[in-house]
Amino acid sequence: MIMHQVLDCIDAGTEYCPCFLAETGDCIMCSQLQGREFCDCQNWKGVCIYQEYIWNGSRIKEQRKDHLCRIISRRQITEGVVLCRIKVSTTLARELNQPGAYVFLRNVNEPGYFDTPMSVMAADGREGTIDIVIHTKGAKTKALSSDSGEFYLRGPYWNGILGLKYIKGLRNSRVLLIARGVGQSPVVNVARKLLAAGNEATIILDKGRLGINIAEEYLREMSCEIANKQVLDLNSLEIPKDTVEYIQKVAAKRQIRLIYSGGTEKLHEGIVKIIDSLEGNIMFACSNNAKFCCGEGICGSCQVRLQDGSRIRTCKTQINPREIFRGR
Ligand code: FES
Repeated sequence: MIMHQVLDCIDAGTEYCPCFLAETGDCIMCSQLQGREFCDCQNWKGVCIYQEYIWNGSRIKEQRKDHLCRIISRRQITEGVVLCRIKVSTTLARELNQPGAYVFLRNVNEPGYFDTPMSVMAADGREGTIDIVIHTKGAKTKALSSDSGEFYLRGPYWNGILGLKYIKGLRNSRVLLIARGVGQSPVVNVARKLLAAGNEATIILDKGRLGINIAEEYLREMSCEIANKQVLDLNSLEIPKDTVEYIQKVAAKRQIRLIYSGGTEKLHEGIVKIIDSLEGNIMFACSNNAKFCCGEGICGSCQVRLQDGSRIRTCKTQINPREIFRGR
């Protein structure tokens, strides 16, 4: 029998909860705000969302707004890839200094539908700055790369990684972090969080099509040990055999407790297969590659289908990512 997942909302219990989904009867966690009569709360986050809604006059809390932010510096690190340092409030920088953090950015001269979700690679809570890598690909990222001195920024958002509870809950263990191409951007905050909790990290970086390791400088500052390997064969879209063997060897020898995958869905699928071939109960976390448009659970562009046929909006929902990639 396929068990239904206990879903978790990334915003539950934060200052942005209850959100628009409470008003439309689509709250991810609260059965009463879904229109049912009884409380069926299965994932208590320390706050009753229904009570918060009622106490707030049956209205949602104030939601995230656009902030006009100055660009401190832009550095082209390779063809079509720019590293931007952006000035934000110290509070926002602290809120973004965690795994999975991202913001929506847009060129100040463009309308709202140019909002582009961008991972936060690093955030400095004392200086009030965030570092973001922009890979110019389509109309929205081209607009971000044009020479304006400011961006509109909407945030903070946190669901850029699935399996966050494993990253946040792990202490004094060994982890393996694998990241490729622009997927290297979120791995910096993942490594920082894990190292701060006394974990030891082995890191595999693949330059991917960018031809450069965008996270290497940041990871070296944290004294991380880095191996350079190709983690995805571009013809077969599988993990090359020698890399599979390397991962298996590292996982067994170092008794790895968690593997993080930052890259395409093909990489995630390959890593899940490797984990399934290994002994022990290795946890899995990965970058959330769904297409984010609103980030608020409204538009449905980030929806994925689970094995039981249900659909979840991954901009809001935290779930064990193996439920998405297992068996693909
Ligand atoms: S991005 Fe709009 S619902 Fe998730």
